[in-house]
Amino acid sequence: MIKGVILAGGSGTRLRPMTKVTSKQLLPLYNKPMIYFPIQTLLDAGVKDILIIVAPEHAGDFINLLGSGKGFGEDINFSYEVQDKPLGLAHGLGLARSFAYGHKCSLILGDNLFIDTFKADFDEFDASGQGAVIFATEVPDPHRFGVIEFDENMDAISIEEKPEHPKSNYAQTGLYIYDEHVFDYIDQLTPSPRGELEITDLHKIYLEKDALKASLVKGVWQDTGTFESMFEAASIVRDIELNKN
Ligand code: G1P
Repeated sequence: MIKGVILAGGSGTRLRPMTKVTSKQLLPLYNKPMIYFPIQTLLDAGVKDILIIVAPEHAGDFINLLGSGKGFGEDINFSYEVQDKPLGLAHGLGLARSFAYGHKCSLILGDNLFIDTFKADFDEFDASGQGAVIFATEVPDPHRFGVIEFDENMDAISIEEKPEHPKSNYAQTGLYIYDEHVFDYIDQLTPSPRGELEITDLHKIYLEKDALKASLVKGVWQDTGTFESMFEAASIVRDIELNKN
């Protein structure tokens, strides 16, 4: 059974002052707190055991909102881990070591909106997957993201974080699945020039071992890193809600 990790630490500096007293992942996307969407993405993929990584100053708010997970289903289990300082996405994932060591594990960024289902990919990886899978999608502005280049077999050829000259138009979104080696590879990482353990450096380790694959998001992916993209994410949710009836 693939375990799930949601990263909801980070200081959300790009969305100040909205994030001055609360976490970015608790801000609304139309009718629900942002983190409900990545939770739903994992639940739809069949992941029931989920660790949520939070910043210390907002940990209580997440627990008040989400509790044990039983509100999402009898067999759903949430646990929490505090990331004392925002030292990077791979550092955050490393805090899941005691939760997920020895298991296959998925990571989703708590500020990513997917309107899609990944159940087939997760089931396949659970049954026989090795290495890592990055969910990717074509974007008009790849330099804003991690950029992945891959061949016709979906094997990754290169991966670069926010490159000036992107080698493809495919962004790595905020959803990944890893095999049991992930925590050993995180141990090999060293901080980047901005002092963080970078998720893209972790993916480069898998790439060096010819063990990095891309899988395309078929539906919608929207990040929420800027005011504009957050507004767009909210309007996507609004359209879905208004079309329900
Ligand atoms: C992070 C990752 C980047 C990825 C993006 C997806 O960037 O570093 O590779 O494309 O999430 O949302 P950030 O949004 O933290 O700048």
